[in-house]
Amino acid sequence: MRFDVITIFPEIFNAYLNESILKRAAEKNIIEVKVHNLRDFTTDRHRTVDDYPYGGGPGMVMKPEPFFSAVEHIKSDGIPRRIVMLTPRGKTFSQDMALSMSGQNQNMILICGRYEAIDERVKNLVDEEISIGDYVLTGGELPALVIIDSIARLIPGVLGDERSAEEESFTCGMLEYPHYTRPPEFRGLKAPEVLLSGNHKAIAQWRRKEALRLTILRRPDLIQGIPLKDEDYKLISEIKEEGKNHEYD
Ligand code: ADE
Repeated sequence: MRFDVITIFPEIFNAYLNESILKRAAEKNIIEVKVHNLRDFTTDRHRTVDDYPYGGGPGMVMKPEPFFSAVEHIKSDGIPRRIVMLTPRGKTFSQDMALSMSGQNQNMILICGRYEAIDERVKNLVDEEISIGDYVLTGGELPALVIIDSIARLIPGVLGDERSAEEESFTCGMLEYPHYTRPPEFRGLKAPEVLLSGNHKAIAQWRRKEALRLTILRRPDLIQGIPLKDEDYKLISEIKEEGKNHEYD
């Protein structure tokens, strides 16, 4: 899967993409990220990418022409791509969107803005506007990395153990159960005994219950989206009986 990023700060991407899982994914040719400097698509001596807003007001607006030239240049190889603009006014990104984009395996162009805004006419280039949450960042570069990361790690072969993507939070609609590793006791803090028992059924039940508990306590809004099994109702009533007298309260 190929990602083409358009930005005025291409260096931001190198540090993150050249480490760990995404680096290996690129080495294995599972993903390819090409970062384009918007200034390379300007035509003036100063490589100007912004200008004063029509109608006045604070800040600068990113000019449309370099974005059009950059997108036309990228698309000139004829490969179809979904064009996404990162903006706080876009549709809020979610794990479901990451799953669907990863499954579609569609190449993407990610347009990152800076300054006050991007000239509205750039919207004509774009298939979709995406926000990564209800807060405002200084630019679209971090959101672009968030989107690349969350999509890439779902592509088969990117994570070492395929089950990690499946088992984790949100994939089945719940927050993930707590994890422990050695030592069994550290500064008086014990790992739950059941996890050391070797009893796989009991371990699975403990994990399901703790995932339910965390979700009920922290994200009750997610509960209605979870396909609950018969056993879950029993676990939920146990959790309710245990009340607030618990480590996550
Ligand atoms: N640019 C600035 N803030 C953003 C956000 N929350 N999501 C996507 N792009 C942005």
